[in-house]
Amino acid sequence: MKVLVVGSGGREHALIKKLRESKAAPQLYCAPGNGGIACDAVCAPVKATDITGMVEYCKQEAIDFVVVAPDDPLAMGMVDALEAAGIPAFGPTGRAAAIEGSKVFAKGLMKKYGIPTAQYETFSQEQEAMAYIRQRGEYPVVIKADGLALGKGVIIAQNEQEAAAALDSIMKDKIFGDSGNQVVVEEFLTGPEVSVLAFTDSKTILPMVSSMDHKRVGEGNTGPNTGGMGCIAPNPHYTKEMADLCMERIFLPTMRAMNEEGRPFKGCLYFGLMLTPKGPYVIEYNCRFGDPEAQAVLPLLDGDLLEIMQAIREERLDQVPVGWKPGASACVILASGGYPVQYEKGKKISGLDAGGQCPGAVVYHAGTQQREDGFYTAGGRVLGVSATAGSLPEALEKAYAAVEDIHFEGMHFRRDIGKY
Ligand code: AMP
Ligand code: GLY
Repeated sequence: MKVLVVGSGGREHALIKKLRESKAAPQLYCAPGNGGIACDAVCAPVKATDITGMVEYCKQEAIDFVVVAPDDPLAMGMVDALEAAGIPAFGPTGRAAAIEGSKVFAKGLMKKYGIPTAQYETFSQEQEAMAYIRQRGEYPVVIKADGLALGKGVIIAQNEQEAAAALDSIMKDKIFGDSGNQVVVEEFLTGPEVSVLAFTDSKTILPMVSSMDHKRVGEGNTGPNTGGMGCIAPNPHYTKEMADLCMERIFLPTMRAMNEEGRPFKGCLYFGLMLTPKGPYVIEYNCRFGDPEAQAVLPLLDGDLLEIMQAIREERLDQVPVGWKPGASACVILASGGYPVQYEKGKKISGLDAGGQCPGAVVYHAGTQQREDGFYTAGGRVLGVSATAGSLPEALEKAYAAVEDIHFEGMHFRRDIGKY
């Protein structure tokens, strides 16, 4: 069986490594993949957003099953296009992916179905948004671009000046392009953040082990937001009682709401939650596995990922075994100097073997290129070093011990993953 994963980051590498354990022993492909993924799968030179090219490639290579991992191709309807061409694909349709692709849609859904989320208003005119913020007069205030913005479309403004500057950059200067045609202005919430990824076929929803991303670049959760600098699983703040509450108030209602709206969601639904003093609130939905959440959560999956994905597509998730290993997992991201602002690529990486790995941990490649003499950096986030163990402190120790062996010019990482 030939299985292709669409995408090129650490998340895709984690998906590939897990799919490789499947008892169907699939032949693995990745499009476009990266230097490290090439050690585990055939990398195809097709861009993740090239829908026509992807359908053509899959037909040409007789691919049996496609896993569409990133948000852009999902929002663009890649799953719809593959299925229309007779190629079975895992992931939500374009209409269901709107739960991430449009914050205005996601907020409207939560309001309509009573799913707890921050109070908000939406605006397509900058002056009206600013008038609302002034009249409200409460800071900080959260301003979000409607569409996809590489995880950077959220600005927390501490005062009126910052709010005005944020609206200018999103709505006038269009720093996120058309994603900024509309904005959501919402209440600032506080509390620990939890990521919960869930398998769902629109009839059954099975949350995975919870996790905690570390979005800020600096230690102590300081500095600008990144794609994620590390992750632990399970999330220590997420108790069994909280999980039950989230199932009743958030997970099931969301699955049912999408069905009611004629947008049944099949795939991995990501709940970005905040555990506020008033209970769990949804900060955001994503229509896919998180990155770096996948690199911490998937190693703990006790189940056949390919079988689970096929069952989801065929709406029989209730019939496959999905279990979780005891213990904990940690992933530390190694980033290029200057990331997330400006960084150079093409630095030689030392400490990896020919397969892109190092002892004591699993190395997921996010932005690497393979040359004759080894691996080179090719992105902002370069590697994710993951380890599992009986407890979180042991998992962190193993991951950080492996990090000691790896080096490239300008490399930086957070030493406080899992400390919060
Ligand atoms: P998002 O891209 O929606 O995940 O937002 C990025 C980050 O902004 C989140 O992880 C939160 O830390 C923060 N954030 C988003 N919405 C709110 C909110 N309403 N209140 C407080 N923090 C927020
Ligand atoms: N880790 C956050 C995301 O994947 O959007």
